[in-house]
Amino acid sequence: MKGIILAGGSGTRLYPLTKAVSKQILPIYDKPMIYYPLSILMLAGIKEILLISTPRDIGGFKELFGDGRHLGLMIEYAIQEKPNGLAEAFIIGEEFIGDSSVALILGDNIFYGTNFIDFIENATSLKIGGIIFGCYVNDPSAYGVVEIGDNGEAISIEEKPKRPKSKFAIPGLYFFDNKVIEIAKKVQPSSRGEVEITSILNEYLQRGKLKVEVLGRGLAWLDTGTNESLLNASNFVEVIQKRQGMYIACIEEIAYRKGYISKQELMELAYPLMKTDYGKYLMELADSTVEEYSLAYSSMNGG
Ligand code: TTP
Repeated sequence: MKGIILAGGSGTRLYPLTKAVSKQILPIYDKPMIYYPLSILMLAGIKEILLISTPRDIGGFKELFGDGRHLGLMIEYAIQEKPNGLAEAFIIGEEFIGDSSVALILGDNIFYGTNFIDFIENATSLKIGGIIFGCYVNDPSAYGVVEIGDNGEAISIEEKPKRPKSKFAIPGLYFFDNKVIEIAKKVQPSSRGEVEITSILNEYLQRGKLKVEVLGRGLAWLDTGTNESLLNASNFVEVIQKRQGMYIACIEEIAYRKGYISKQELMELAYPLMKTDYGKYLMELADSTVEEYSLAYSSMNGG
């Protein structure tokens, strides 16, 4: 399975913060927002990733991740000229997706919780149809909303309904078979002028090929589109990391634990970050100290 991170948009709800930079480059506590969705694709075991952003912002992401090789990934880039809607990701990504199945994650979605990795690992083995998640939220009216039947099946899907039929919002993480490209091409723009992911979901629903996984209380799903939610997300990450001593969305750690990079490569990534707790955390993971690394590094470089 391949993965797409959609990290364009205009971020108008965060103005003036996002007047000159991408929302997805803004910090969530100690790392750029985009690390969080990237970490989810990595945890799902997806290594081939297409990052889509605006003509203005794509350069920043290239600088941040390059071709992804240092993380054991293959990252490609594409531009979305205008925020025409989420469904456009599959049209822009057609060549990248090829004949594969694909996961789409939005650049401003954060997930953290028990058993979530099992859910997403299972979803990557999808052969036919689509998989979405349902998250119980207090006010789902700002999201796509899925109505769920007694047997856990999806009954209806609506985009930002004024009177939601359920409390289950659909977070920005979707898994589809290869038919999604053909379906996306047929989607007509909605009244707000966007090609909606909801139209794709409804097509899968009508074909009887849409599965909903309900995520329980153990999962924190945060989106970061407003000043308040941005700050809340930072505070959440700080509390968990300080309390547990384990990092959320530490992409270097995930690459190392998954065996994509060696201990030596992990140390090389940690070294320039040693002024930060983040860098020290990576060095500890490698079970090393900066002094040991310096020695090894200087001998490696003939010093
Ligand atoms: P939104 O929060 O719907 O839009 P936005 O980020 O432009 O913000 P605002 O409403 O404040 O103007 O987007 C959700 C995510 O999807 C976000 O990560 C941006 C991304 N996105 C795109 O990349 N392209 C698009 O066409 C749309 C609609 C969203």
